Amino acid sequence: MRDRFGPTALVVGGSEGLGAAWAESLASSGLDLVLVARRADVLGAFADQLRRRHGVSVDAIAGDLREPDWLEDDTPSSLASRSDIGFVVVNAASSPAGPFVSTSLDALEETVHVNCLGALRVARALLPGMVERGKGGLVLMSSLAGMQGSPGLVAYSATKSYLRVLAEGLWHEVRPAGVEVIACVAGAVATPGYATSTSSRAPGTMAPEAVVKATLAAIGRTPVVVPGKFNYVASTVMSRAMPRRVAIEIMARANKAAGLLQQG
Ligand SMILES: NC(=O)c1ccc[n+]([C@@H]2O[C@H](COP(=O)([O-])OP(=O)(O)OC[C@H]3O[C@@H](n4cnc5c(N)ncnc54)[C@H](OP(=O)(O)O)[C@@H]3O)[C@@H](O)[C@H]2O)c1
Repeated sequence: MRDRFGPTALVVGGSEGLGAAWAESLASSGLDLVLVARRADVLGAFADQLRRRHGVSVDAIAGDLREPDWLEDDTPSSLASRSDIGFVVVNAASSPAGPFVSTSLDALEETVHVNCLGALRVARALLPGMVERGKGGLVLMSSLAGMQGSPGLVAYSATKSYLRVLAEGLWHEVRPAGVEVIACVAGAVATPGYATSTSSRAPGTMAPEAVVKATLAAIGRTPVVVPGKFNYVASTVMSRAMPRRVAIEIMARANKAAGLLQQG
């Protein structure tokens, strides 16, 4: 990993759930880490564990993907100017659930700010250096919810679609320079965030570590990965063999069963 991408990985949203699994996996392969998340205490405790377990250096930055000023803080060590950062995972997301018309405008706008603009700014800040160095990797966390409209998660699913398409275009643009981009289109993943949004367990639910492993195996081979056989088959059938209205209806039923249409 160090030779292929560079010595340090940045994980935005790297203190819990999938982000923690990314950090753990990257540290175990010998990469130093820069982790960003909003809650400094949770992040700091996790960073300590990683240093102890893997002997790597871990910078913990308390920051929000909504306002990623920590990327360019006008210091020579600002993240955007660090040439050691060769692998980036944009994992953090905002995901308000419930009917669109009863979700606050603030929450809906926050979803676009964090998921779309935040990811865009991270990519724009760090990809130029990777292209210049001729190596690097960028993972954007997308979702099966973004493969079609997703009632109960309307704004979130639209942002996850944006991230997949963003990754696809970037994949083609920067690949000739030796930089790999991939969208990880995850189905349900057993994370603390998922557990607080629903009490049910969707079919095909995966462990965060399995999602990370599948994505690392796929980067460099494809612009989009759907981890897990069940999720892959479901997304292929829903996106290629079904009329859109049927795929949307299936998502609506799944989200209703998960209690997501009743919230908000
Ligand atoms: N879990 C699933 O079932 C599932 C399915 C498909 C796709 N995904 C995608 O996978 C990614 C991770 O999901 P998850 O369930 O692990 O998420 P999560 O539990 O909600 O959050 C994961 C991490 O992101 C940080 N975070 C959240 N908002 C942030 C912000 N605005 N700025 C900086 N850090 C922030 C959290 O720490 P702080 O709260 O301290 O900031 C935490 O470290 C998301 O992009 C999600 O859309 C998840």
